Amino acid sequence: MEAKYNGDSSWLLSFPASVSKSRGSVPGNFFQVSATGMAWGDLRFSWPSFSSSRRLSSSSSSSSSCNVAQRRSVPELYEGIAKFYDNSSGVWEDMWGEHMHHGYYDSEGSSSQNDHLLAQIAMIDNSLAFAQVPDSKEERPAHVVDVGCGIGGSARYLARKYEAKVSAITLSPVQAARGNVITASQGLSNLVTLQVANALKQPFEDGTFDLVWSMESGEHMPDKQQFVGELARVAAPGGRIIIVTWCHRNLELGETCLKPKEQELLNKICDAYYLPAWCSPLDYVELLKTLKLEDIKYADWSKNVTPFWPAVVASALSFRGLIKLATSGWTTIRGALAMTLMVQGYQVGLIKFAIITARKPL
Ligand SMILES: C[S@@+](CC[C@H](N)C(=O)[O-])C[C@H]1O[C@@H](n2cnc3c(N)ncnc32)[C@H](O)[C@@H]1O
Repeated sequence: MEAKYNGDSSWLLSFPASVSKSRGSVPGNFFQVSATGMAWGDLRFSWPSFSSSRRLSSSSSSSSSCNVAQRRSVPELYEGIAKFYDNSSGVWEDMWGEHMHHGYYDSEGSSSQNDHLLAQIAMIDNSLAFAQVPDSKEERPAHVVDVGCGIGGSARYLARKYEAKVSAITLSPVQAARGNVITASQGLSNLVTLQVANALKQPFEDGTFDLVWSMESGEHMPDKQQFVGELARVAAPGGRIIIVTWCHRNLELGETCLKPKEQELLNKICDAYYLPAWCSPLDYVELLKTLKLEDIKYADWSKNVTPFWPAVVASALSFRGLIKLATSGWTTIRGALAMTLMVQGYQVGLIKFAIITARKPL
């Protein structure tokens, strides 16, 4: 079997003739998945398009408020997120390990191009460096919150790096339970605790954490203002806030909305990954400004993550990946199929991978 990226946001998986022959019902010897649909030999299937009458309630600060169909109610969204990660985290862990985030790839041909775990660690280290989190024993963070923690890969890394106490929250009971098992197996239970809690209503006192860490969870938050408000609330005076997240591109001068075709692509991704309306990096900056935070800055790291999604697609299309997907349920399969939409979104400059950081005044 051979997997090949066609360069037009589609992937072609070819089976040797013997395999396709041995499966009586297979109508051809290839499986193709693309931004518009999938095909198995002569059979073609298009992704459904949307016609939702529900609209996102307008949010004065977000460009995403224009005419964006709200895919699900907020309770439906939370339930969907929890189930999505309950069902898919095991498959991801088997294939990719404990980090459920993009890798950071330096430049063409660097060693981390093919070492994705190294690139995922580089993502954490580069984020800390960008936010100028101090390393010295006297100044490094002692209390950290990992908001949207997956199975706790970052939480354990930060606990080790800083000898910090880390509280980690996720909507997925399966992730919290699995994360605590891994934490115990690594002898870190005295430092790291995962629990089920909502990022928009965190179970922590005001001003608790020197480092507030959100790695690829912001895109799931249905109310970005409340999200950043909670991050700022739980930050200690002088504490750093790091948000690394999927965004849509900043709007051009004079633009008030994304183009309909762009929104259509995001809508398909929203459905597959249980995401609400997206916003831009500059929307985040504006939101943080309303909270009177200091040192607010952002960077577009889209180029640094370019190799990631094609690598994830390739691993999903590997023999092992296909077997795992086949037994993982429809939401996980749909998530896997939507990976090419992410590749396409990056290619056309619609999706941006952004880091936004700030500091709470002393
Ligand atoms: C893509 S995973 C990222 C996991 C982790 N940060 C990492 O880098 O490995 C997204 C995580 O965000 C969590 N999440 C999404 N919405 C959330 C919410 N409202 N409250 C808490 N966690 C949330 C999910 O449960 C999941 O653990």
